Amino acid sequence: MSVVRIGLAGCGSVAQRGLLPHLACEDIRQWCELTAVMDPVPGRAEATKQKFGAKLAFEDYDEMLKADIDAVVIASPIGIHYEQAMKAIEAGKHVHLNKTMTTTKEEADRLIAAAEAKGVVVVASPGNGLHPSNMRVREIVHSGELGRIYWAEIGTAGGGHEFEPFRKGDDVLANVNPAWYYKKPGGGPMYDMAVYALHRITAILGPAKRVTGMSGIGLPKRYFKGEEIIVEMDDNTHLLLDFGDNIFCLLYGSNSASGPRHPFAQPFVSGSDGSVTATMGQIEVIGRNVLGTPGSESGRRVEEADRRIPWVFGVHKEIPERHVYADIMHMVDCVIHNKKPVVSAEHARHVIEIIELGYKAAQTGVTQTLTTTFELKPWELVHCD
Ligand SMILES: NC(=O)c1ccc[n+]([C@@H]2O[C@H](COP(=O)([O-])OP(=O)(O)OC[C@H]3O[C@@H](n4cnc5c(N)ncnc54)[C@H](O)[C@@H]3O)[C@@H](O)[C@H]2O)c1
Repeated sequence: MSVVRIGLAGCGSVAQRGLLPHLACEDIRQWCELTAVMDPVPGRAEATKQKFGAKLAFEDYDEMLKADIDAVVIASPIGIHYEQAMKAIEAGKHVHLNKTMTTTKEEADRLIAAAEAKGVVVVASPGNGLHPSNMRVREIVHSGELGRIYWAEIGTAGGGHEFEPFRKGDDVLANVNPAWYYKKPGGGPMYDMAVYALHRITAILGPAKRVTGMSGIGLPKRYFKGEEIIVEMDDNTHLLLDFGDNIFCLLYGSNSASGPRHPFAQPFVSGSDGSVTATMGQIEVIGRNVLGTPGSESGRRVEEADRRIPWVFGVHKEIPERHVYADIMHMVDCVIHNKKPVVSAEHARHVIEIIELGYKAAQTGVTQTLTTTFELKPWELVHCD
């Protein structure tokens, strides 16, 4: 296949702010085309088509699947992802899924089996665990510089999607109600946000073995443009992961406020001889065997994080949601060159099982044993500068 024709489902916040501005760029025409857009809200797909230059607009997902498209990008609410991905696979389309791919391990199993049977590519966001900055933390952790690894901490906190500036407008493109983020299935900060932390820490430490935790609702009511949203999904979840060999990780997903000591999905890993802390721009290593950064005392080294992301070049560096665009282009690349994705459905399944069984552990008070695993393969740093 030379040019992958894409149909995008769900023209809400992430699509309008990030995915469509990227996919509308001329500089990726040699690889893919934004052929169709779809959204059930009357007029939203048509307005999106006109704004971003798609060829076709649909209000019905099944109708879009009948169109001449090769791949589907799913940017709808998380609870719908499984059904839409299965339909796409059954129609022989390749799929990119926004996080999370599904909400249960069983759905993930079925989806992976269906894709294998049909011979289609599935790329499941987020691929952030494989970005160079996180791979560098992994390298430090496995280098022995920190001694024997004991424990880690990572998580995500954030105030809620009703506060996104994008949603302030009143037209059909901007007036997008985020109530689904607080409903079942698929709502809550674990599936939407902590998923980034889980991909990162499992990329560093490998697959987890057991999970336990506590979870609940911190704020039972929220408001979007004066309309009440009853919060039905936990918005405050704290898990403890066991990676085997007495290596533990504290992991949180909360819709409460964050602070400077808790940067979004940035890992801290501690060992017998030292620790590593990542922030958005730097990696700090502290320990008795650490040679200091030139010009500073030994015992502490600060490295600039490598911010490159595959496929993020030129104008794409200025457009939001670069990591999701990179995952979409990874799907395109795998389709064109018949490659197996490294941003894999198997890694996504493992993360989904942690979330699912984390909730179960919190409900039952019983630590849960994880059954899934994944193989980590490097992501080639193609088309980035
Ligand atoms: N908002 C963010 O900051 C952000 C960032 C990265 C990824 N994501 C992910 O992107 C996905 C969408 O999030 P969002 O914030 O854009 O949500 P959103 O609520 O802003 O938009 C969702 C859109 O999907 C549409 N929709 C509803 N039912 C549909 C269906 N059956 N088929 C197709 N479309 C349907 C809605 O009308 C709406 O336009 C989620 O998986 C989320 O985790 C969101």
